[in-house]
Parts: sequence; C-alpha cells; structure tokens
Amino acid sequence: MSNSYQATQADKFTFGLWTVGWQARDPFGDHTREPLDPVRTVEELAARGAYGVTFHDDDLIPFGSNDTDRLHHINRFKKALSENNMAVPMATTNLFSHPVFKDGALTSNDRDIRRYAIRKAMRNIELAVELGAQIYVCWGGREGAESESSKDAYVALERYKEGFNILSQFVIDNGYNIKFAIEPKPNEPRGDIFLPTIGHALGFISTLDHPELVGLNPEVGHEQMANLNFVHGIAQALWQKKLFHIDLNGQRGPKYDQDFVFGHGDLKSAFFLVDLLERYQYSGPKHFDYKPVRTDDDSGVWASATSNMRMYLILKDRAAKFRKDPRVIEAMKNSNIPGLSEPTLAANESWRDLASDSFDVEAAGKRGYGYEILDQLALEHLMGVSDE
Ligand code: GCO
Ligand code: MN
Ligand code: MN
Repeated sequence: MSNSYQATQADKFTFGLWTVGWQARDPFGDHTREPLDPVRTVEELAARGAYGVTFHDDDLIPFGSNDTDRLHHINRFKKALSENNMAVPMATTNLFSHPVFKDGALTSNDRDIRRYAIRKAMRNIELAVELGAQIYVCWGGREGAESESSKDAYVALERYKEGFNILSQFVIDNGYNIKFAIEPKPNEPRGDIFLPTIGHALGFISTLDHPELVGLNPEVGHEQMANLNFVHGIAQALWQKKLFHIDLNGQRGPKYDQDFVFGHGDLKSAFFLVDLLERYQYSGPKHFDYKPVRTDDDSGVWASATSNMRMYLILKDRAAKFRKDPRVIEAMKNSNIPGLSEPTLAANESWRDLASDSFDVEAAGKRGYGYEILDQLALEHLMGVSDE
C-alpha cells in the first residue's frame, strides 16, 4: 500500500477550479476543451484522492451574476463539497481578467478601480470564510507595467501596501480566521509585475500594519521563470515562518509561464523540494496550480490531475529512501553536512573568543567535500536505481 502512490485525504492535495477547468485558450488560439462544471470537478478530484478545491470568485460565480444566480452557484457547489467530503482551504480573487483591471487592481492608477478591486476581494473573502478557507491568496498578475513611464513603482508600492492594510483590517474587524498569502511572479501577463519574487514579497510584508496576517504562496514555475532556485526560496519562506501555502507545478527554464504538471519541468528541483517540505513538515495544503497541456482532451485532463499527486508521492518516497540509505548517511558525514547545524559560537562564547582562535587555513583550504558522490547518490535515488 505504501508504494501504490494512491493519494488520500491525509496528503492534503488540492487543485484550483481553474486548473483542470482551463479551456486551453492561449494568445494564439481558441479553446480546445469545453467548460467544466465545478460540481464535476469536485467529484472527479475526490474520486482521485484529493483533499480539496480552491477557486477565484469568477471561477465559481460567473462575473456579473445577479444575487439569485450567485446563490444558486454557491449552493450547488456546497452540496458537491459535502457529498464528496471535500474541503476549500483557500480562495482568491480574480483581479486580472476583466478589462477594468488591465492597468492593475490594487495598484491601478485609477482610484475608483482600486476601491472596486478591494470591494471585490472583500466580497469573496466573506464567501471563503463561509466555506471554511483559512488562506486567501493574492496573485497580482496585473499589478505591474510594460514601461516605467506609465507607472511610478515607488508610489505603486505605497498603494499596494495600503490595499493589504485595508484588507487586513477588514479581516480583523470581522473576526475572520483567515490569512493572506502573496503569490510572486516576475512577469506575464504584465511586462513586469510588482513583488516579482519570494524575496521581494518577504521584504514587502515587513512594511505592513499586520505582517502576521500576511505570508506567501510561492509557485514553482514563477521563481524558475526568473531563473531562481525554488528550493532555496522555499527554505527561506519556511525559515521566516511565511510559507502559508504553495503552488506546485512544472517549468522548464526561464520562458513563458508553462504551468506543467508537478515534476514535469525541473525534476531534480522537484525532488529536493519535496525532500525539504517533508523534512521541515510543511503542513499546509499541497496545491497544484497547473494547466493540462492544450493538446489533451477531457481524459487527458483527469490523467494529468492524477499525475500531479503521483509525482509528489513518488518523490516523497524517493526522498525518504535517499535520506535513509546508510551510504548517504555516511557520505553526508564525510561531507560534513551535519556540521552546519552547530552554532558558530558556543553558548558561553563571544566574538572575543574568535579573535584569539588559531586555525590551519591552508589545511582547511585543501579539504575535499565529497559533494560529487553525494549528488550522484541523490540522482540514483531519484531514478530509482538505488532501491536494493
Ligand atoms: C499563474 C498564477 C495563477 C494564480 C492564480 C491565483 O499561473 O500565473 O499561478 O494561476 O496562482 O490565478 O490567483
Ligand atoms: Mn503559473
Ligand atoms: Mn499560482
């Protein structure tokens, strides 16, 4: 059973309605798949062992719906959730599709649009809370510019900060048990997006009125679009206690946002990501934010949903075997990996003790670290050839 790689609710795998529901429209071509009913999405994902679904307001309630229609969409979704024992741990606002947001939402140059965007977010936060979500993702896809002449980035950050402060106060005043998770992305759809990386977002959060209410929802492909090391980014988010949520998917190098199945991009990075998440016991949802390739039909969509979960479980199994292998433990000892856990100063020491230390610099410069052996062992485990 442990090696069947069959997802269960305990794995906490979640999917956005917009992922499997992507109709595969791209800048060059029309849709290749029919719309998916959110009720069917809930059923199909539950049958495959997922824990829950997430949504943008407009994924569930078509933009512009009247109150009666809105309630109808919400009620049949709620019914499907309860019949299939599926959770909604996260929700988010679509502040990017409608033309009103073409120059941004919280950072639009137009004050009325900024006020409308916050109103749209507040309305969906109320629904998110009603459905039990504890995380509210904020992906600012349109918050950016194509040219520096069109937007004052310094002032835009001031408005971005004001937006988060207003939304935080809204959550506090209503006593809602929900936190925000900023999703960085370097570009696409804007030429350049504000808060482009994990590091930018972490720095921004420290300026907010309620930094404790705001963390991150990093996405694999987004950091890799900027040619950054996603595993290192996640390590820092975890270390700063800011990994509130995570978007898992695949990306092959710095190019357009590919949103492939998890592991179908940089597999080595995916292996070390799962290793990291498991070792540091990330306990939030593992959210797949991907797009089934445009070339596939409905059956390919569901096959790809299963693939995401299998990839995670296979990598989890491989990473655990890697860590347990006595050859790896020995190689890590020879490489002095455990040495990094030891504080640089002993408990009773200060800089004064360092000043008087003596040390053979030449000998230390000559030592080999044995990382080649270690890396080969990691890759052999990843390929499943070390399973004797
Ligand atoms: C992307 C983004 C989006 C957001 C989602 C939440 O691929 O550019 O990941 O998919 O995660 O829309 O707002
Ligand atoms: Mn993406
Ligand atoms: Mn995402």
